[in-house]
Amino acid sequence: MSYPYQISSKEAYQQAYQRSVTDPEGFWADIASHFFWRKRWDKVLEWNFKEPKIEWFKGGKLNITENCLDRHLGTLGNKPAIIWEPNSPEDDHRVLTYRELYNKVVQFANVLKNNNVKKGDRVCIYMGMVPELAVAVLACARIGAIHSVIFGGFSAQSIADRLIDANAEFVITCDGAYRGNKEIALKSVIDDALVQCRFVKKVIVLTRTRTPVSMIKGRDVWWEDEVRKVETQGNPDCPAVEMDAEDPLFILYTSGSTGKPKGVVHTVAGYMVYTTYSFVNVFQYKPGDIHFCTADIGWITGHSYIVYGPLGAGATTMIFEGVPTWPDAGRFWEIVDKYRVNILYTAPTAIRSLMGFGLGPLQGRKLDSLTVLGTVGEPINEEAWHWYDEHIGKKKSPIVDTWWQTETGGIMISNMAGITPGIPSYATLPLPGVQPILVDDRGVEIEGNDVSGNLCIKFPWPSIIRTTYGDHERCRTTYFATYDDMYFTGDGCYRDAEGNYRITGRVDDVLNVSGHRIGTAEVENAINMHAGVVESAVVGYPHDIKGQGIYAFVIFQGSHGDEKLNRQDITLTVSRIIGPIAKPDKIQFVNALPKTRSGKIMRRILRKIAEGEMDKLGDTSTLLDPGVVDDIKDGRI
Ligand code: WTA
Repeated sequence: MSYPYQISSKEAYQQAYQRSVTDPEGFWADIASHFFWRKRWDKVLEWNFKEPKIEWFKGGKLNITENCLDRHLGTLGNKPAIIWEPNSPEDDHRVLTYRELYNKVVQFANVLKNNNVKKGDRVCIYMGMVPELAVAVLACARIGAIHSVIFGGFSAQSIADRLIDANAEFVITCDGAYRGNKEIALKSVIDDALVQCRFVKKVIVLTRTRTPVSMIKGRDVWWEDEVRKVETQGNPDCPAVEMDAEDPLFILYTSGSTGKPKGVVHTVAGYMVYTTYSFVNVFQYKPGDIHFCTADIGWITGHSYIVYGPLGAGATTMIFEGVPTWPDAGRFWEIVDKYRVNILYTAPTAIRSLMGFGLGPLQGRKLDSLTVLGTVGEPINEEAWHWYDEHIGKKKSPIVDTWWQTETGGIMISNMAGITPGIPSYATLPLPGVQPILVDDRGVEIEGNDVSGNLCIKFPWPSIIRTTYGDHERCRTTYFATYDDMYFTGDGCYRDAEGNYRITGRVDDVLNVSGHRIGTAEVENAINMHAGVVESAVVGYPHDIKGQGIYAFVIFQGSHGDEKLNRQDITLTVSRIIGPIAKPDKIQFVNALPKTRSGKIMRRILRKIAEGEMDKLGDTSTLLDPGVVDDIKDGRI
């Protein structure tokens, strides 16, 4: 066994699970004791879901970077912590050993200090997938600043909204980012965002693409210049700031059913313990394995399973700058063979898109280093599961289907590679410490097996969301008030005869497009910003590659009559307001939307129309004007 808390058999899983339910405090205390604490906790868990108030390892003092870096230096100093593969296969890759990563983090932590960043300050990070992104994240954690990473695909407006919400006075960015054949001018997007955010005091800019940038005097500084200053100071050490177990570690914004994204807050100790524990157990990581998670660090998957979980375990983690289909659709497979990757963790949408290229891109690829495959982000359809199993895993690598959320911090329901069986399209069993419960719409528990319901969790686990930044009430109403004394996930779920869980998708107005969560209300708000739009309603529909596509019904009274141009304008508006990821796939112009007498849009009907199930519209008699529906059906695209 490689880690003292590594589960090595099905029986051991069952025992661990049992103990985690009967003695949660003892269970988590044992695991937490394998981490480095400046001061041990006084109380393992204090909680109530009413407020909610959840405190893990209360009174404990620590710094997560001492656990991810310092404590590995003696044994793993010369071992690779990060392997970075650039966008272009022609460019040189980079390897950072634990010692090198430690040095860079300490150095950049000093850069942050020189720029007056203090414990508790919010630092927004908007960068491409370069090793310095991980360095920036860890440097914040080292000095106790709260990082808020924003995915490089978000627009200036989205960034501004997040900066304002978090009142972030510091920004770390790059001149630009490479993604496939595109070059994205990140700094210029930041400049647009900052027009609305005069409170931002410092912008630190890393050189990556040499895209021309404008540097504002007094506000903007180059990463490289700042590092040089630290070097001339003789590269002083940067002792890790002692943090309370429950001090915030980061904010990560995510979409919900209302218009405004919310800042999910995770805290230091519980997040550290849970991400490391789940990383080791779900993927069955063995020292020396190379772990390749293809997510972007801008999403929770990248936070937990590129950065914190793997580094907490002293693992070797890959950062890939590019995209799976450039220069060709064999890019992932080339990387797997080049570095002899052992664990590949990706999203169903990527698998489906690569499936579409046939087996050609797999020609000449061995893929024989792979031992574990993983998926995350959305339900995986059986066809994609089998393709992954047959052509990538060669039927010898277990596939872990990991269900979790930004709010859960780490993997909640999943098989454990080679330990508990995988079932196509099932996340299967809860991890130790996770107590799922299915309830009906009134919150009454649905007991027994072979049943479906709304998925809730009835007991806290260490990496549960603590609050939504600046608005605790929103956290309460969104997650803890739908049903009494439970955390509500927003997902629907089926439990089969054997007690395995199968996630069936969101039950709220949140779409899952290519594994990205997008609230319909957010897209509607963006569409409604267009001057010609009177009203809109957005629903999801099944999409072969993205899982769900975005279908917008729009009442339009714009000036020019060309529908195609109007559609383009609306799409551009959404790109500007949110980012290209939220662009509608289909826009249908309608004269009216189906509304109840009380003025509520009947989304159920629109969803059925978008899905092409016109004969299953159900009862339309409660509509103010049932005739509207026929018009919409006729105009369907
Ligand atoms: C969905 C991503 C089915 C689910 C880690 C959840 C999944 C939302 C799976 C969270 C899975 C994630 N099977 N559905 N294995 N993993 N989901 O916050 O609807 O970006 O609520 O976190 O993705 O998305 P988020």
